[in-house]
Amino acid sequence: MVHLGPKTPPSRKGLLNDIPKDLLDQIKHLEELFTVDTAQLKTITDHFVNELEKGLSKTGGSIPMIPAWVMTMPTGKEKGSYLALDMGGTNLRVCEVTLLGNRDFDITQCKYHMPPEMKTGSSEELWDYIADCLDSFLKQHHTVDDEVEAKKIHLGFTFSYPCSQTAINNGTLQRWTKGFDIDNVEGHDVQPMLAAALKKKSVPITVSALINDTTGTMVASNYTDPETQIGVIFGTGCNAAYFETVGNIPKLEGMVDLPPDTPMAINCEWGAFDNEHKILPRTSYDVQIDNDSPRPNQQAFEKMIAGLYLGEIFRLVMLDLHGEGHVFEDEDVSSLQEAYSIDAALLSLIEEDPFENLTELEDAFESRFGISTTEPERKLLRRLAELIGTRSARLSACGVAAICRKKDITKCHAGADGSVFNKYPHFQKRGAQALKEIFDWPDDLAVADYPIKVQPAEDGSGVGAALIAALTLKRISEGLPVGMKAEFV
Ligand code: BGC
Repeated sequence: MVHLGPKTPPSRKGLLNDIPKDLLDQIKHLEELFTVDTAQLKTITDHFVNELEKGLSKTGGSIPMIPAWVMTMPTGKEKGSYLALDMGGTNLRVCEVTLLGNRDFDITQCKYHMPPEMKTGSSEELWDYIADCLDSFLKQHHTVDDEVEAKKIHLGFTFSYPCSQTAINNGTLQRWTKGFDIDNVEGHDVQPMLAAALKKKSVPITVSALINDTTGTMVASNYTDPETQIGVIFGTGCNAAYFETVGNIPKLEGMVDLPPDTPMAINCEWGAFDNEHKILPRTSYDVQIDNDSPRPNQQAFEKMIAGLYLGEIFRLVMLDLHGEGHVFEDEDVSSLQEAYSIDAALLSLIEEDPFENLTELEDAFESRFGISTTEPERKLLRRLAELIGTRSARLSACGVAAICRKKDITKCHAGADGSVFNKYPHFQKRGAQALKEIFDWPDDLAVADYPIKVQPAEDGSGVGAALIAALTLKRISEGLPVGMKAEFV
């Protein structure tokens, strides 16, 4: 058994014996680059807490900390049918959610493929496409009998990009994230754009709430599990939401007619943590990804953690190792040259390969890239995937820990959703381990007894969006504010 150094746990499977010294040295080097130890987790968390505070202050900071105008958790008694639209990275999902009033719901949904070119296409194409999907959903699933009924179709629109909100039904896009780059949307309120497309196509829907996926996840998870206080997404992008009280949000001072103890959901937009590059242990690969992205110097934290980037980090390391003559000797690696040609699913496959000699990895490299790998190379690649996946989970835990520390939460559930959380092997376990290290929970505490648990969420952009639409309409009917004072909206 090769000794890998004191701070590095051995690889889970496939001992690293029989690996030539050169590759072992490379593994060691990668371990140094990608391992985030307990002390670093703690320092990052401390800094994170300060940055959350800063984001709420009048001067602001890197983390936007956006008041989301959701001012109550659901009671569980909400009733009625609402439409929900989720504009994710790869699909558009439209749902009709019927809240049954007993913490239960029915849902009918349709997914529409979003052509990848749309991510960098024109704004008009985007809104027209969304309006067409909503129209098609209504025609298929919803009978609109008359004008009066038509006006009652309320939509909760989950638009998961940083939007400044002066009220629940508007949101000015601060900047695109997750590789989107559509002109003429940044700096504009997205609600009127969607409303105009709906009107143009005579689709009878009112956009009642604009929601971030994290806020939806928090509300939906709280609906079925009242211990939930945080909503998190670990998917193509990453982010979290939690509740503050209005009195703890200095940047709202004077702008709202709300008692200081009014709860206010905060869409943190924590992907922007450490945009000034002070604390995160960035590697040259992270720097390259940032520099080559459509929005350099934005989303520093997200670019080290989120699903969109994990495969790209892996690809850049492989190319580097090849360039230096450590792997794929005499192989044609041209298929690895295309940016973002590897996604996180490949890393999942590699981490899950059940065979000691990693034959699934071998087949995947042959069939996808035409590259033959040796067994030692495969062991290095497996270790690399573990390192990238583990770093993602451990850094993610710093964000959850920071929110808990900021709010003095010592016990709670965080509802989590997203492809990385749901599908990436060991992500949940690695994140829980990191939380244990950050909070110094005793070694003999069973994972099931960890006081802060990040667990699978209820469907935030469907059920959560519907609930938020319901909560908003209720507030409006009670004459309660759903945004800033009129002069600030
Ligand atoms: C967006 C957030 C979103 C997160 C997860 C980030 O890129 O800025 O608004 O919540 O991705 O989808």
